[in-house]
Amino acid sequence: MSEDRKRLILDLDTGVDDALALAYVLGSPEIELVAVVASYGNVAAKTAARNTLSLLTMLGHPEIPVYLGADRALSATRPFSPPSGVVRIHGKNGLGNQRPEAWCYTKPKDGLDFLVEALGSQGQSRGARKDEADSGQESRALRAPVLYVPTGPLTNLATVLVRAPELVRELSQVTFMGGALAVPGNVTALAEANIHNDPEAADVVFGLGVPTRMIGLDVTHQVVLTRDDTAHWRELDTSTGAFFADMTDHYINIYEQNNPHLGGCALHDPLAVAAAIDPTLVGCLSTNLRVELDGPARGRVVCDPDHLRDDKKNTEVALTVDAPRFLDEFRTRVGRALRQAGEPF
Ligand code: RIB
Ligand code: CA
Repeated sequence: MSEDRKRLILDLDTGVDDALALAYVLGSPEIELVAVVASYGNVAAKTAARNTLSLLTMLGHPEIPVYLGADRALSATRPFSPPSGVVRIHGKNGLGNQRPEAWCYTKPKDGLDFLVEALGSQGQSRGARKDEADSGQESRALRAPVLYVPTGPLTNLATVLVRAPELVRELSQVTFMGGALAVPGNVTALAEANIHNDPEAADVVFGLGVPTRMIGLDVTHQVVLTRDDTAHWRELDTSTGAFFADMTDHYINIYEQNNPHLGGCALHDPLAVAAAIDPTLVGCLSTNLRVELDGPARGRVVCDPDHLRDDKKNTEVALTVDAPRFLDEFRTRVGRALRQAGEPF
């Protein structure tokens, strides 16, 4: 295992495109996936943990730890349960109604405790990091720097920052999937799903000045996967290839009904992980953001009118993407993850 590999923590609400993002990371030789924190959104948080554990096993990495994050939005009084529209998009189980060969579930440890420790270690001195590195596997996984990529609501990050405010100074740039700055939303006319699921959490993160890179619908609707790609995965003649092809075809079916103009399914979460690994894939506007919390615009991300002229800009909002280069990377990396995983039938 190369010591030069970048460390990455995913924060997934594991539905179909989160599963594709997981495969993208596992097929990226320059990346060490340290852990996954399960969130809610496409499914309930516990289902996201079960899906993640099952996918990691299917993809040949059962050793990667999965933690359980928040199960509801900051203002919610009950655990999140996905509404019917979301169940239709990602399937009843979040994985396009495809059954893995085995469901894996062991009670995960607390994801918020894990994030406080893992993200906090980013501010440590090199000496402290070396001591950790010398003291075994668990500490090794917590060494800095680490890329943290949430592809669900920002509840876990906001909760951790409220619990440990010193982390705001220590965090390196967080690349997240969410928002729609210059295009319509996908839940309401103005709001994208991940931000809409917890607008207060996103507003806390932006308000604290955390350095972020936003991969929103502005760019994710420019990167589209078609059935030609899923056909290639099926041709691998492995159970994992067939699972990913069937799961993604379910997602493409729904996109054909809801967004026929796209000509396939949007690769939201895979683009977020790709841009975290290689920021040159996207072109960004530097700005400061806030989130509308009231009325019909609830969940809309806007440039903060009170901080437009600030010299310091906290967020890079992706507005352009090199779609052909990203799609090449996607095919190579997900293809590699599927080939590494699967034995023939
Ligand atoms: O709006 C798209 C986002 O919402 C993606 O992250 C998808 O997985 C869902 O969480
Ligand atoms: Ca997601």
